[in-house]
Amino acid sequence: MSAYVHKTVLRNEAVSSLEPKSGGKYVDCTLGGAGHTALLLSLSEPSGSVLAIDQDLAAHENARDFLRGDMHRLTLVQSNFRYLRRIASDAGFAPCDGILFDLGVSSVQFDQRERGFSYRFDAPLDMRMDEGQTTSAKTLVNTLTDAELSRIFFDYGEEKFAKRIASAIVSRRMTKPFESTGELAEVVKDAIPAAARRTGPHPARRVFQALRIAVNDELGALTEALDASLDILRPGARVAIISFHSLEDRIVKKTFAKWAQGCICPPDFPVCRCGRVPEGKVLTRKPIVASQQEVEENPRARSAKLRVFEKAL
Ligand SMILES: C[S@@+](CC[C@H](N)C(=O)[O-])C[C@H]1O[C@@H](n2cnc3c(N)ncnc32)[C@H](O)[C@@H]1O
Repeated sequence: MSAYVHKTVLRNEAVSSLEPKSGGKYVDCTLGGAGHTALLLSLSEPSGSVLAIDQDLAAHENARDFLRGDMHRLTLVQSNFRYLRRIASDAGFAPCDGILFDLGVSSVQFDQRERGFSYRFDAPLDMRMDEGQTTSAKTLVNTLTDAELSRIFFDYGEEKFAKRIASAIVSRRMTKPFESTGELAEVVKDAIPAAARRTGPHPARRVFQALRIAVNDELGALTEALDASLDILRPGARVAIISFHSLEDRIVKKTFAKWAQGCICPPDFPVCRCGRVPEGKVLTRKPIVASQQEVEENPRARSAKLRVFEKAL
C-alpha cells in the first residue's frame, strides 16, 4: 500500500477537548489519516471505543493497517457523515460520549494527482471524496449553467471574478468539454484580468476550492451532521469541530450559538412563553487555533479553527 501521510491538525487540542476516558464511546466523523482516531483510542484505554467514519475508501484501508492492534475497539464505517444519526445508531454509538469533526480534504486526497483536487497537477477533473459518487467536478463544469457556476465560485470561493470565469468556461466547453484540471486552471487564469493574476495566490485556487465544496456538498453534509450530533450526544458530552475556511466556521459558530440560546421571547414579555432552554454551552468563545510551532511544521494548520460545544446535563 502506498504511504498515507496526513499531518493531523490540532491533534491534542481537539482530542483532549472531548475528555476521553476508558469505557467511553467516541465518534470520529472524519477518519482521514487516523491521527485523531489513534489518539482517541489511546486516551480511552483500556475499554473506550471509537466509531470512525470517512467516505473515502483509501482512509479505511490505511486505518485497518495502521490501527490493526486496536480493531477490537474500533468500528470503521465508509459513508458520508451526513448519515451520522443512522450510522451511530446502527453501530451502537447513540448515545455517545464525544464527537469529532476535522473537516475538508486530507493532504493525501489533495496531493494524489489522480484525485483531481489540485490545480498544481494536470489530472482528470474529479474532486470526489467518495469515488463511488457519480457527480464529479467534470460533471459540474461541463453541465451547470453560467449562472450556477458563477454562484458556486462566488458563494463557495468568494471569487470576485466569478461571472467572467463562468462565462469563459461556458464558451470554452462549446468547442471542447473539459477533461482535466490543467485545462480548467488555464481557462480560469486567462479569464481574470492580468493585474489580478500577478498578485495573491494561484488564480485558480478559489475556483478549485469552490468546485470541491460543491462536488462533495460539504456545507450541506456539515449542516445535517451537526443536527444529528446534538441528538446522539449523551448529556454532558462534547462535540469538537475543526474547520478550515470561513464558510464552514460560520455554520459551526452559528449552530453552536443557536444551541446555547435560551429564552427567545421579546424583552417586554413579563414571563417566558417560548419555554426554550439552552441545549448546552459553547466552551470556546474564541476558536482554538494552532500554535506558531504547529503552523511552522504544517502550514495547513494556519487556517484551522477548533470550536467545542458541551451538551447540557
Ligand atoms: C482533514 S481530513 C481528516 C484527518 C484526520 N483527522 C487525521 O487525523 O488524519 C478529512 C477527512 O474527512 C473526510 N470527509 C470529509 N467530508 C466528509 C463527509 N461528509 N463524510 C465522510 N467523510 C468526510 C475526507 O474524506 C477526509 O479523509
